Order: sequence, then structure tokens, then C-alpha cells
Amino acid sequence: MKDELRWNKIFGAILGAALLLLFVRVGAEMLFAPPKLAKPGYAIAVNTGPAAPTAEAADTPPDWGTELAKADVAAGAAVSQKCASCHNFANGGPNQTGPNLWGVIGRKPGSHDGFAYSQAMTDFGGKTPVWDYQHVYEFLSGPQAYISGTKMSFVGLKQRQDRLNLIAWLRQQSSSPVAIPAAKP
Ligand code: HEC
Repeated sequence: MKDELRWNKIFGAILGAALLLLFVRVGAEMLFAPPKLAKPGYAIAVNTGPAAPTAEAADTPPDWGTELAKADVAAGAAVSQKCASCHNFANGGPNQTGPNLWGVIGRKPGSHDGFAYSQAMTDFGGKTPVWDYQHVYEFLSGPQAYISGTKMSFVGLKQRQDRLNLIAWLRQQSSSPVAIPAAKP
């Protein structure tokens, strides 16, 4: 009789331990379930070749000597339609929401007569003698990011080629277009 009781205790302990193990396993599986695949089968990592160039990588500073010379001026004129709601480009034309932009390339930023520039643009003009190709290019890619506090509320031209074409056209909206620099060797 005494022996029987002892065996009962031993079996009880084993059963208890086994149950505990089971609980721990189920619990762990719930916690650390393997990720479900979107499609049944095995996930196979496929090398799809080099990643497509990001906008960042593509945005190397232009070599103005080569890229401006072969930019599409007519396409740039079309892009300027995006500016026309705020800017007049004619010689002696009026200021509108934005200043008149005749001859803006080569002009000191924030300096067109009769236009009330933001403090941000005035400050920018204080440290930037002229709107050269590179400054206009960077400004147009994201006006607010480039001159924080500018009141030019325009998202910017995301396409590099749009900016190049526009600048090639803008350059010609001047009585004395700024020279195209020599191509880099
Ligand atoms: C929603 C109106 C708006 C649009 C659209 C817009 N601009 Fe402007 N732009 C402004 C305003 C306002 C200013 C003056 C910014 C300031 O004082 O901070 C300005 C300033 C500028 C300047 C600086 C001029 C100077 O005299 O220093 C340039 C260059 C310019 N814009 C080019 C462009 C071009 C190119 C486009 C089209 C791709 C464009 N803007 C689209 C409103 C606009």
C-alpha cells in the first residue's frame, strides 16, 4: 500500500512535468510563430540585379558645360507653364505672386524692384551674389528645403531633366544670357 502511493506520486510528478512542457511549447509557438509566407511554398531569395538608381543617386550636380548645351529648350518652355501662375517672364513684365523673372539667372537673389521678398530670400541674397545655374537648380528641386522660410509655395521640379531643360530656357529669357561654362574635361 505504501509502495503504491509512492508510485502514484511519481507518475503524478511525471505527468505534471509533461503537461508543463506541453504548455511551454504551445506558448512558445504562439509567441515565436514562423512568419507566414504570402504564397505557400519556400521563400527563395532572388537577386534581381542592382537596385534602380534612386532619385538621390541620380541627382549628381550637373556638368553645366555639357548638359546645358544639350538640354531641350522647347521642353523647358513647356515646364515653365508650371511657374506661370505666379511668375511673369517678359522683359519689363510685372511682379505677380512671385517676382518678374526676366534675366533672373545672373541676378542677385531677392533684388527685383518692387517685389516684397520674404526675409528668408533677402537673407539668401545677402550671402549669395547671383542666381547661377547651380543655385537655381538646387532651389527648384525643393524651394522650401533649399531656402527655409521662402514664400515661394511650389513643391519643386522632381525630375532632374525638367530642371535642366527649364534652366536652359530660363537662361534665354534675358537681355544678356549668362555664358555656358566650358565642359569639364
Ligand atoms: C505658387 C506661386 C509660385 C510658383 C508656382 C513658382 N514660384 Fe517662384 N517665387 C514665388 C514667390 C512668392 C517668390 C518669392 C520668394 C520669397 O521672397 O521668398 C518666388 C521666387 C522665385 C525665384 C527667386 C527670384 C528672385 O528675384 O530672387 C526664382 C528663381 C523662382 N521663383 C523661380 C520659379 C520657377 C522657375 C518656377 C517654376 C518651375 C516657380 N518659381 C514657380 C512664387 C512661385
